[in-house]
Amino acid sequence: MSESKHWDAVDAYFTAHLAPDDEALEAALRDSEAAGLPRIAVSAPQGKLLQLLAQIQGARRILEVGTLGGYSTIQLARSLPADGRLISLEYSPHHAEVAARNIARAGLDQLVEIRVGAALDSLPRLADENPAPFDLVFIDADKENNPHYVEWALKLTHAGSLIIVDNVVRSGRVADPDDTDRDVVGTREAIELLGSHPRLSATAIQTVGTKGYDGFALARVRS
Ligand code: SAH
Ligand code: DHB
Ligand code: MG
Repeated sequence: MSESKHWDAVDAYFTAHLAPDDEALEAALRDSEAAGLPRIAVSAPQGKLLQLLAQIQGARRILEVGTLGGYSTIQLARSLPADGRLISLEYSPHHAEVAARNIARAGLDQLVEIRVGAALDSLPRLADENPAPFDLVFIDADKENNPHYVEWALKLTHAGSLIIVDNVVRSGRVADPDDTDRDVVGTREAIELLGSHPRLSATAIQTVGTKGYDGFALARVRS
């Protein structure tokens, strides 16, 4: 078996035992694909990790940047109490429509609000509303803006909040100084910001699986 075949088989095995037969999530993926959305949602085990992290965090308010078809949104929103709130920012009206249907089918539409537009427009508008701070921020949109999203996350959180950044490895490209792709540069800037910011304590973990070789960064806002 090739290495990536092992990664697929192990993800399938973990999903079958640790997150089996999830109708709402499977339907969300099916409908996203039927609607022509790219197949770039977090994997089932990664999504379950997001849900567990949000539960461990005791999150009541979650901010997501990059909704796609709402797969990670559903995983995160399932961790919320009945009076919790998840705001998800999505550039594409089409993606947002597909996501809204998927989230409603999962029974989570009372907890989730999708805001359509470029996140760098939506974030200052959100900040103007003086929202209660978010306990968890999941950054998973256009990677070139990752450092800006981290800065906004810092403005919108409190001591103890958790900031998660997806896709920080990209098959190792993050560590190649000759790679000047905007998304890679944005991710490198975000990692360096997480590491140098006095209000953050951070790490990053490499992952393999159905999504290939990639990883997450995790940062906790200091007191
Ligand atoms: N979090 C999702 C995957 C998100 S894919 C999941 O794991 O299920 C990235 C999403 O970010 C896409 O839907 C894309 O349309 C959106 N996006 C890209 N640029 C954006 C921007 N500037 N503002 C907000 N969303 C953006
Ligand atoms: C891409 C974006 C993602 O958020 C992801 O998880 C995987 C791939 C992409 O733009 O290729
Ligand atoms: Mg992603």
